[in-house]
Parts: sequence; structure tokens; C-alpha cells
Amino acid sequence: MVYQHVVRRALFRMGGGDPEIAHERTVATLARLGTLRPVTAAMRRFYGGASPRTVFGLRFPGPVGLAAGVDKNGVALRGWPAFGFGFVEVGTVTQHPQAGNPRPRLYRLPASEAVINRMGFNNLGAAALAERLRRVGPSPVPVGVSIGKSKVTPVSSAVADYLASLRLLLPYADYFAVNVSSPNTPGLRGLQDRSSLDSLLGELVGAAEGRPLLLKIAPDLSWGAVEDVLDVCSSRGVAGLIATNTTLSRSGLAVEDAAVGEQAGGLSGRPLTARALEVVSFVAKQTSLPVIGVGGIHTPDDALRMFDAGASLVQLYTGFIYHGPGLVRRINRLR
Ligand code: FNR
Repeated sequence: MVYQHVVRRALFRMGGGDPEIAHERTVATLARLGTLRPVTAAMRRFYGGASPRTVFGLRFPGPVGLAAGVDKNGVALRGWPAFGFGFVEVGTVTQHPQAGNPRPRLYRLPASEAVINRMGFNNLGAAALAERLRRVGPSPVPVGVSIGKSKVTPVSSAVADYLASLRLLLPYADYFAVNVSSPNTPGLRGLQDRSSLDSLLGELVGAAEGRPLLLKIAPDLSWGAVEDVLDVCSSRGVAGLIATNTTLSRSGLAVEDAAVGEQAGGLSGRPLTARALEVVSFVAKQTSLPVIGVGGIHTPDDALRMFDAGASLVQLYTGFIYHGPGLVRRINRLR
């Protein structure tokens, strides 16, 4: 409640109401906070408290992860565990540093508890992230690295682009997430097609040298397409699935948000809850591979439904913006 009434209100006004400025300042503040060891240790005791679990061979101190896209360049790696996150997925990072799409490219839809983004993988590049992770050293929680395709690289050369990022980051990633599901890089989602995916994952699993490789999928795939994806994942030795990325759908928006809802990009948050849950449930029934559930988790009950549907772990992005670290704490304390 304090978060919604005080902190969120202040954050939403920050930078003249520009959500990207609020985001940048929050991550920078967290990066500074992360350097205060006794403070982070005390906060971690307050926000944490989950029972640990082992998934795809990694030990997680808690089931709630920070979703990809929040800390693309890994600048606040020491800060996130203080808020109770049991793992952090940095990135999506690309082989080449890139600026992303022109601003504005991030919109809040408060009446719908949603966000629309068309960031376009703005990031400092795989080499910079590798250097950052090297300097930070071992993390108290597993660190996943999400890799995507650089905009300048044609889709026909995507495999080499992903491979270059993976090789640079191999010494520092506890797991890799292969992002073929962002709607904001032209042609990227086409890599979810059976034959493209087969060659991409075949190469990446080989190069990962036993490090778990997960695939993050879009919520907009047909069931037939999801089945194809799962076939390829099983045959190529993928360690798990992350479901889901943002959606191109605009259903479930409040009338107050109809105008902003026309912005191009991926929609996340409350309107995605039901669809993400449906996809996680489908995936969990079709395969024995572990699933990380993400999309529209805004309450402990939403997380519980994800676990009941078969998710081994969950991740938050938009729910964290609207509900703050108290949400992480409440999910951690579910029994
Ligand atoms: C994202 N998401 C995302 N996903 C990803 O794999 N790589 C990325 O770089 C990003 N970037 C990104 C930026 C912004 C501003 C948002 C809102 C989202 C998707 C995110 O990780 C998650 O899958 C979806 O947002 C659904 O979860 P939530 O937000 O409903 O909890």
C-alpha cells in the first residue's frame, strides 16, 4: 500500500511523467543501493524467505525472478536480490551495441495496469555485458543472460549473431534465454518457425557447453506452432521454456487506455495474465521440460495459478512496476 500510494506516485511523476526516465533512475538508484552490503543483506531477509529449489540443475534461493528487459546491461545486479528476487535475467543483449527505437517507446496504461513498449533491444552489447559481469563477480542468485539478434544483422545471419553473444557471455551466465519472441525487432519472431528454430537451437545448445539454454516464446503463437516449438526444443536438448513475452493483442484494455493502446509495441501486465497462464498450462501439459511463467503476475494468487499450471519458477516485470517489491515478498511467502 505504501508502495502504491507514495513510491509509485512519485515514480510515475518522475522525469515529467516519462516512464523511461523513471525506469533509468530507479535502476541507477538500485545499483548504488547494491553497494551497501549490510543494507542489502537486511533487505534480502525482509523481502526473501522463500524455500530454495533446484530447476534445470541450478539452485534458486527463491522462485521469483526479475524478467528480461528490466536490467538489460546488468547495472544493478547486487540490488535485485535485496528485493527478494531469487534470480535475475539480464539482457536482452545483442552482439552489437544498439540504441533501440526512437523515444518515446515506453508507455504506461495505468487503468489497465499495463505497459506498451517498443524499446527495440537498446543495450550496450554482449562484450560490455560480459565485462560488467566479470567485474561484478559471483552473484548470490543465479544470473540468466537473455540473448537476441542485432538489428543490423539480417535474419539470414541470425545464428552467427546469437552465437557471438553466447560465446562472449559463456563464462558468466548461469543459464541462457534465447529471445526469439520480442515483437520489436523486425523478423525476429519468424525464428520461432520450426526449421529456423531447429538450426538456431542446434548451434546454440552445442556452443553452450552444457550450460542450460532456455527458449522464451511469444503468447501469440497458435497451439500448433507451440507444439512445433516444443518438438524442436526436446530434440535439440533445450533445458526449459520461458512463457511468455509481450503480446501484440490489445484485448483487455480499460476504456481510459484505448488511445495509448494504439501505440505500436508489445503489451504486458494485467491484460496478459490469462493468456500467459494458458500458454504455461499448455506447455507444461505437452512436455516435461521445466517452464518459467511470466506475464501479468500482479498478485500472489496470479503466481500461485502459474505454479499450479506447472511453472517451476516465475518472473515479474510489469507487476513489479505497479506493485513494487512487496509483491516479491508476498510471493516468496506463499506456502
Ligand atoms: C520487456 N520484455 C522483454 N523480454 C525479453 O525477453 N527481453 C527484453 O529485452 C525485454 N524487454 C522488455 C522491456 C519492457 C519495457 C517490457 C515491459 C517488457 C518482456 C518481459 O520480460 C516479460 O516477458 C513481459 O513483459 C511479460 O511479463 P509482465 O511484464 O506482464 O510481468
